[in-house]
Amino acid sequence: MFRMKPGNNLLERSIRIIIENQDEGGAYIASPNFTVYNYSWFRDGSYIAYAMDLFGVFNSSWLFHNWCASVINKRKNKIINTISKIKSNCNLDQSDLLHTRYCLNGEDGTEEWENFQLDGFGVWLWSLRQHVIISKNELSSEILQAVESVIQYLIALWKTPCYDLWEENPDTIHIYTLASICSGLISAQDITGKNYSSAITAIKDFLFTKGIHNDHFIKHINSEKVDSSLLALSIPYELVSIDNSVMKNTVGKIEKDLLTAGGLHRFRDDSYYGGGEWPLLTAWLGLYYARNGECNKAREMKELVRLKADSQGQLPEQIPNELFFKDNYDYWFMRWGPIAKPLLWSHAMYIILCNKIEEWC
Ligand code: BGC
Repeated sequence: MFRMKPGNNLLERSIRIIIENQDEGGAYIASPNFTVYNYSWFRDGSYIAYAMDLFGVFNSSWLFHNWCASVINKRKNKIINTISKIKSNCNLDQSDLLHTRYCLNGEDGTEEWENFQLDGFGVWLWSLRQHVIISKNELSSEILQAVESVIQYLIALWKTPCYDLWEENPDTIHIYTLASICSGLISAQDITGKNYSSAITAIKDFLFTKGIHNDHFIKHINSEKVDSSLLALSIPYELVSIDNSVMKNTVGKIEKDLLTAGGLHRFRDDSYYGGGEWPLLTAWLGLYYARNGECNKAREMKELVRLKADSQGQLPEQIPNELFFKDNYDYWFMRWGPIAKPLLWSHAMYIILCNKIEEWC
């Protein structure tokens, strides 16, 4: 259980920002001051709930997991129908697929969005398992029913191309997404006591053959590039050990291609708001370092994130510092306004990093 060191204001502030921005129904808003992020994502929320668990705020994570279950259970018939369409080789259309983000009341958003993303459901199963381990809460029958639906949905769809966690590249299969699904199914085995080993083995085989190029993991199949999200293969999913040579090469390439003085970028061609440094990814790299016993480097990452908070202790989604595509910053600024801040996921990753530095360093 986490003990807060006196004087870490950003840590306290981060926890408060998350609690203040959780809807009474359990949804975490991705960012309250950025209109297109006034929704709750399974992906962001799962990391946020984990951060709350590490800090012992179990009522918050519990509410979120129940909210997720109600979102899924309301769509149970749709999921059954989608799975039977896949089994009978019928084509799927958009209305067969679960959305990646929902209104706080659990309804689908009505705006156009890159909705077909699978990683969020995998990371939800992982986060739920962590919740059970840390809080020792027992799961309700509603949650277990939702878990069953998500498992079957992921087993049926894991090999279908979908948008990645950055909501881009819908026509390919992403290594982070596969890792999230695989880790989710492994977690689900513990939750349900059932065996999904044939799907897990198939995903792992695919990931470890098609997901590697030149001895490093890659962003998506047939790519030669890395993406910072590949850190997840080791931390937190533990699909690959921290000192595995392919993982080490991957981290080396991530550092070389994506780490600049202000922190970690998402991927080399990133043009969203010009492609700046993302505090949540800087924290993620810090987690890798902490797990690998590189504690000074982990603390450096923590400090880099801390310095990005504004005078009210709010962390943004990204920092427009060393931009990959300077011209694109203005495009996005004109379109959607200033960069999202606070971004709850950024705060969550800072909380997780603080916790793990305490535990591992
Ligand atoms: C990011 C997603 C994230 C969403 C809400 C998007 O810009 O690419 O990963 O889930 O914002 O924070």
